[in-house]
Amino acid sequence: MANQIRIISRAANMRGKKYLLKNKLGVIAESTVRYEAIAIPPLQDLLDNIVHGDNLAILKLIPDNKINLIITSPPYFKQRDYGGGIGNEKTVEEYIDNLLKVFSECVRILKDNGSIVFNLGDKYLEGNLQLIPYRFAVEALKSFPIKLVNSITWVKSNPTPRQYQRRLVSSAEPFFHFVKNDNYCYNFSEYMSANGGKSKRGNGNNIGKKYFELIETSNLTLEQKKLALCELQEVIEEVKSGKIESFRMKIKGIHSEPFGGQDGGRKYQLMRKGFTIIKIKGEPIKRDVIECAVETIKGCKHPAVYPLFIIKEFVKLLSKSGDIVLDPFMGSGTTVVAAKELDRKYIGIEINEGYCKYAQERLKNICIAKPPELFR
Ligand SMILES: C[S@@+](CC[C@H](N)C(=O)[O-])C[C@H]1O[C@@H](n2cnc3c(N)ncnc32)[C@H](O)[C@@H]1O
Repeated sequence: MANQIRIISRAANMRGKKYLLKNKLGVIAESTVRYEAIAIPPLQDLLDNIVHGDNLAILKLIPDNKINLIITSPPYFKQRDYGGGIGNEKTVEEYIDNLLKVFSECVRILKDNGSIVFNLGDKYLEGNLQLIPYRFAVEALKSFPIKLVNSITWVKSNPTPRQYQRRLVSSAEPFFHFVKNDNYCYNFSEYMSANGGKSKRGNGNNIGKKYFELIETSNLTLEQKKLALCELQEVIEEVKSGKIESFRMKIKGIHSEPFGGQDGGRKYQLMRKGFTIIKIKGEPIKRDVIECAVETIKGCKHPAVYPLFIIKEFVKLLSKSGDIVLDPFMGSGTTVVAAKELDRKYIGIEINEGYCKYAQERLKNICIAKPPELFR
């Protein structure tokens, strides 16, 4: 079971002052919270633990090049008060600067083949969208030796049902995937593997159904219709047996003709046979968009939880079993839960003690089915 390492506790009425955090080698961090006890645990002690405290100071305790994957979502700018920490700076610039300080530590502790996934929300100020996630990403790319692999858009299928009359409802957020070099760990086949394609296939009774109807009502000759029905039946069998992923059919007079193309190509087939079939091989295309509902966990006290489904997909894609996954803005603990469920080691850092306790509870309730030990 996970412990909660309490590295710091905030001293009363000390807001605004700066304290220096020192270890044997000298000053390692400046903090606005006073450290009552400086117990600097070795990395081993942080593993599979939740650390209560200010992430910037705690990240400085982790040596360089140790973490395989960092997934996190910092507080939105001026959205809510989590009881301290980042998010309520006076200006967007100050907020982005503070995020960059945390990001800098993330880059330092990340292994060379590791990944950082930052999820950020945007903000309107006086009716003006600030583009905060993108301003952060641009600054990060300018300031650190990193590359941006993808900006993966989370499309919220259930956005807040508040319709404005003078603007559309924001219902998407980016997850930026940063790396240090091109050798990043990438388990492509693991990503979206459970529901990719198969769910669309169903029991197979509906595959190509619309094309049968279209062929019947088309202006093709009897011979052309016969051939079209025959080839349609064949290609449906190929989908059902898993030989190909899916297909599209174009029928003369119904679908638009392709532009250009060579003799013998699709245009020629349409002209000669009256139809053409485009076979789609392999897995469905893995795109930089994830549609997923905003999570509601029964009894959850945290107001901004990101979906466990998305985080598990990133953990599978960007790390291996036994790797270390870290979240410096842990909140309710979604990242650490995903890591534990997928047999990774985790470190969660959170400034609000109540959320630390809540995340502990989530971790405690995880039930991982292990294969029975037959031989001892
Ligand atoms: C958007 S929430 C993260 C939610 C999380 N992804 C989840 O699924 O529950 C951001 C969290 O960062 C915490 N936080 C803000 N500033 C912090 C800091 N300097 N150090 C550690 N945690 C901080 C807040 O208390 C808040 O819980």
